[in-house]
Amino acid sequence: MREVAVVGVGQSKFGRISDMTLAELAWQAVKQALQDAGITQKDVEMVSFSNVGGWSSEPLPAIAVNEYSGVSGVGTYRVEAACASGSAALATAHSLVASGAVDIALAVGVEKMTEVPTPMAVELIGRSGNYFWEFSQFGLTFPGYYALYATAYMNEHSATEEDLASVAVKNHYYASYNENASFQKRITVEDVLKSKYVAWPLKLYDCSPITDGAAAVVLASEDAARKLTDTPVWIRGIGYASDTSNLSKRPNFLSLRAAREAAQKAYKKSGIDPSRPHRQIDVAEVHDCFTIAEIIAYEDLGFAPRGGGHVLAREGETYKGGLIAVNLDGGLKAKGHPIGATGVSMAAEITKQLRQQVRGERQADIVKGAGLAHNVGGTGHYAYVSVFSLKKS
Ligand code: COA
Repeated sequence: MREVAVVGVGQSKFGRISDMTLAELAWQAVKQALQDAGITQKDVEMVSFSNVGGWSSEPLPAIAVNEYSGVSGVGTYRVEAACASGSAALATAHSLVASGAVDIALAVGVEKMTEVPTPMAVELIGRSGNYFWEFSQFGLTFPGYYALYATAYMNEHSATEEDLASVAVKNHYYASYNENASFQKRITVEDVLKSKYVAWPLKLYDCSPITDGAAAVVLASEDAARKLTDTPVWIRGIGYASDTSNLSKRPNFLSLRAAREAAQKAYKKSGIDPSRPHRQIDVAEVHDCFTIAEIIAYEDLGFAPRGGGHVLAREGETYKGGLIAVNLDGGLKAKGHPIGATGVSMAAEITKQLRQQVRGERQADIVKGAGLAHNVGGTGHYAYVSVFSLKKS
């Protein structure tokens, strides 16, 4: 397999974007990514496209977006892995370049979730839990699913609602420095505790919002990357795994098996010691669709021992200067979670962090030269963990 680098990244503003079509929104990100890579549309050989849709009026979004972006006519497809669709698009584009099928591929993620009212968006997301049993018989939607994880975790490890809240406080803090984030407002633990319950113990500020947004990255083979840039960010390894959609078949609600497996595979491919990955990684983007998800991610990725994730959160160890900096763009919680765009946006953020192109407070200290993205689809149905590095393997 060939080495593959990220050579261009772009991202739109995330939030409620009502004055653009899906294609116009995607173009905001694609335009930046092409410019950043120093290429034009005619250099792109393949577009790997991520959009979950359902709320969207556009049935074949890849075609509409590519046409609007001026990359019509190239090979393309749309991938689906629920909230991890963006990472699935990245992984498939990576495989195409690594295999030698193409030299330059574009991964694009875009979502316009606010095309429908919030209750309908919640219902549509809920259908991608476990439709025939948990959704249709019990009415479970995603805040409810992650509330099950939160109550199990709190019961097992004596974690508190304050511990969960500390994740939201950190992610809103960093989002306040991110002009592309949905929320720029800093919040306190008290604000989180006072916000309305959505599904006990999760409150409004424990949840990621319904979001519109787009992200794009350009991937290139080693030869192409060397011609385009002096600062390629290498994709050292992508691990992927999946699991049952049915929570009754999961051994417990304390961890996501698919995420653990994806992390182990990514670490093996990229030469990261799985027992202490934070020693080799400066900055991580993790899938904090709900605050409990970030705490579980710390454990599934090996940043904390089992039962120690909430302690990292409580002690502020995932701020800059702590054990490992996590979600310095505000995460899904405060940057926003336009489902199909999220994984691509994580790759864009880690690339900018490693290139030290993030302004001010939210630029991580890059000492080890590596970053990680952890992206989960469903309630752990799909998981992707990607390791990026300034050094080639
Ligand atoms: N965090 C902080 N503020 C939020 C928010 C969130 N997650 N969601 C909405 N808000 C704010 C809105 O900005 C709005 O503020 P305003 O009145 O100042 O304009 C207000 O709360 C009401 O917004 P609305 O869209 O009506 O919220 P809601 O109460 O109907 O929905 C949730 C809130 C939590 C139910 C919804 O955001 C949700 O379902 N989130 C989870 C999405 C999800 O499951 N994604 C997939 C995960 S894998």
